[in-house]
Amino acid sequence: MPANFKLDLTQRPRRLRRSANLRTLVEETVLRPADFIAPLFVVEGKARPEEIKSMPGVFRLNLTDLVKECRALHQLGVPAVALFPKLDPKLKDHEGTQALNEESLILRAVRAVKKAVPELVILTDVALDPYTTHGHDGVLTPAMDDVENDRTVGILTKMAVLQARAGVDFVAPSDMMDGRVGAIRRALDGAGYSGTGIMAYSAKFNSGYYGPFRDAVGSAQAAGTRLLSKATYQLNPANRREAIAEALLDEAEGADIIMVKPAGLYLDIIRDVREVTRKPVAAYQISGEYAQIHAAARLGWLDYARCRHESLLAIKRAGADMILTYFAKEMAKELGRR
Ligand code: PBG
Repeated sequence: MPANFKLDLTQRPRRLRRSANLRTLVEETVLRPADFIAPLFVVEGKARPEEIKSMPGVFRLNLTDLVKECRALHQLGVPAVALFPKLDPKLKDHEGTQALNEESLILRAVRAVKKAVPELVILTDVALDPYTTHGHDGVLTPAMDDVENDRTVGILTKMAVLQARAGVDFVAPSDMMDGRVGAIRRALDGAGYSGTGIMAYSAKFNSGYYGPFRDAVGSAQAAGTRLLSKATYQLNPANRREAIAEALLDEAEGADIIMVKPAGLYLDIIRDVREVTRKPVAAYQISGEYAQIHAAARLGWLDYARCRHESLLAIKRAGADMILTYFAKEMAKELGRR
């Protein structure tokens, strides 16, 4: 090739990338602290924050520390938290009865956070997995070979009403039972909580990447049982049409926000759901996605801050209006209030 080789081009897309300022001018997606919802784990008692081994930088917090963390997040401009209880195993049983205890850990946590930081939006999961010895999101059939859909939904509606009474802004059914969004909507309205919203875990896939979360809440597997499989209720990772159908059903049943989960491996689903609904779309960057970035960075194989940012940017670019992520606090610090 001669040294003076010249292309005769009208289009030279690289003209838009010539300087840092130009690149910001044409930037299409921007992350801000207000994009994030911080998942937080709460424990009973007065113990010091206890780091979850497979989730570096994520701690199980007692009520006092939880309230402090919520204040800090609010000050950093993070608008919402999703609270998860880690129960004392002694309180778990086959039916998950603690889910309906009006003085349960999660309800006390909600009341404490609402009182201390009333502006902060609080979400809580509606599912039985933190409460059952077997770790399933619902109660089991007599043959114990599956969750019992309708009986589970009956329990979940009561759980949602208790959470609404405690002051949550949104209940988040994460159980994937059929018909639960509509049943919860009716129960909330019937109990006078028409202002309490539903963020539906609509397209929740049966993912291998939930492992670290199950360590965090202790729902991985009960002693002496088969390894937990949620394949009869969570979506098959192979299925795209079915995910869209689930999202549309939840919208029709009254969901206010539609969620896709996991996020980074399901960007196509986020985009599909974005295109079929006019409701806000949330995506949950789950524990395994978080753990992967940490693990690779620890080995020196990935640049931590860059990959953290890029992983979230991709989720927003795909169409998520909000992202549940364990990086919420760090990202809010990095981005500053915008
Ligand atoms: C349970 C629930 C799970 C997560 C949120 N709620 C895990 C599961 O279905 O086993 C996962 C969150 C994460 O992995 O970060 N209903």
